Amino acid sequence: MDDRGDAPITLDDYEAAALARLPTMVADYYAGGAGEERTLRENRAAFARWTFRPRVLVDVSNVELATTVLGAKVPFPILVAPTAFHRLADTEGEVATAKGVLATGTTMVVSTIASVRLEDVAETGADRWFQLYVFRDRELTSTLVKRAYGAGYRAIVLTVDTPLLGTRYRDERNRFQLPDGVGLANLAVSDLPPEDEAGRPGSSLSHFFAGEHDASLSWADLPWLRSLAPLPLVLKGIVTAEDARLAVAAGVDGIVVSNHGGRQLDGAPATLDALPEVVEAVAGRAEVYLDGGVRRGSDVLTALALGAKAVFVGRPVLWGLAVDGAAGVTAVLEMLRDELRLAMQLTGTPSVASITRSLVGPAVRSD
Ligand SMILES: Cc1cc2nc3c(=O)[nH]c(=O)nc-3n(C[C@H](O)[C@H](O)[C@H](O)COP(=O)(O)O)c2cc1C
Repeated sequence: MDDRGDAPITLDDYEAAALARLPTMVADYYAGGAGEERTLRENRAAFARWTFRPRVLVDVSNVELATTVLGAKVPFPILVAPTAFHRLADTEGEVATAKGVLATGTTMVVSTIASVRLEDVAETGADRWFQLYVFRDRELTSTLVKRAYGAGYRAIVLTVDTPLLGTRYRDERNRFQLPDGVGLANLAVSDLPPEDEAGRPGSSLSHFFAGEHDASLSWADLPWLRSLAPLPLVLKGIVTAEDARLAVAAGVDGIVVSNHGGRQLDGAPATLDALPEVVEAVAGRAEVYLDGGVRRGSDVLTALALGAKAVFVGRPVLWGLAVDGAAGVTAVLEMLRDELRLAMQLTGTPSVASITRSLVGPAVRSD
């Protein structure tokens, strides 16, 4: 090793280091997307379709990154997206992630299919929302929401892009299965079905969803969901103006423009491409957030200029967790925060409130 050392200086460095150390089945599960992974790639590529229109001679000696989400203050507009099975990356799993998040003061969304009980994550004291999958067993679903409310989760994030699991070829080929000792801790499920109903092997997670998840869930179920706990409701997985209007009409508090990190419908639009139409349709009646492909502070700034209140990051948090546990999670979030601060300084936007639509314009295409 030379004297430059090998400390990660970008989120991509964390990704490379994590992929090098994780077993193939886990690396593929974390990194992969659905189908040909077109949407996965487009999520990132979409950021390059915009350039900044920087303003100069603005006092940027002090930059205010703090903002609010659902009425609560966060130190910077970057939150942690719900991702499953953190114990595949770290023995402490979601508890380690939450400790890493706590050190930054931001908010973490905990998945229904976390590998640690939601109550144990709550004990860390990290600010938290609960991501919900609705099961055919409505009683089980209701219990999950009530447990989350009881454990101090501040919002329910209903994932709406997953009536069934998208086909992820990597997981099919690897016959994705959880190792012994890692399970769906909130549901007390330790083994996923290795075969589907017809006896075919493949992704055990896909079989689990086909068997347990409620594909009949519709807009008509939202009042029932809201009745379970007096918490704000955020819908995660909307990419059209039509659905954004329905969500507002249903009285939701927030919308995450998301395609599940390219893991559900391959061919869904890049989230940054979908963001403007959702923001326009919502017209300030709910908060709009974005996730998918955010890897640089400048990506955060672009999303905020196009109307996002905040962004969520999924995979980068898993890379930090795999490389250095809780400290790695903190480092990844702080890296993104520091990059955002610099991008704001270089564009003449000293506060989140000063980030407006005129900060970005379409990149000039060469073709
Ligand atoms: C390994 C992995 C597991 C995920 N598990 C869930 C989940 O349990 N629930 C959910 O709503 N979204 C889940 N997602 C989607 C993320 O919440 C988020 O939409 C996506 O990761 C954002 O894209 P990014 O990874 O490019 O930041 C998962 C994503 C990954 C990569």
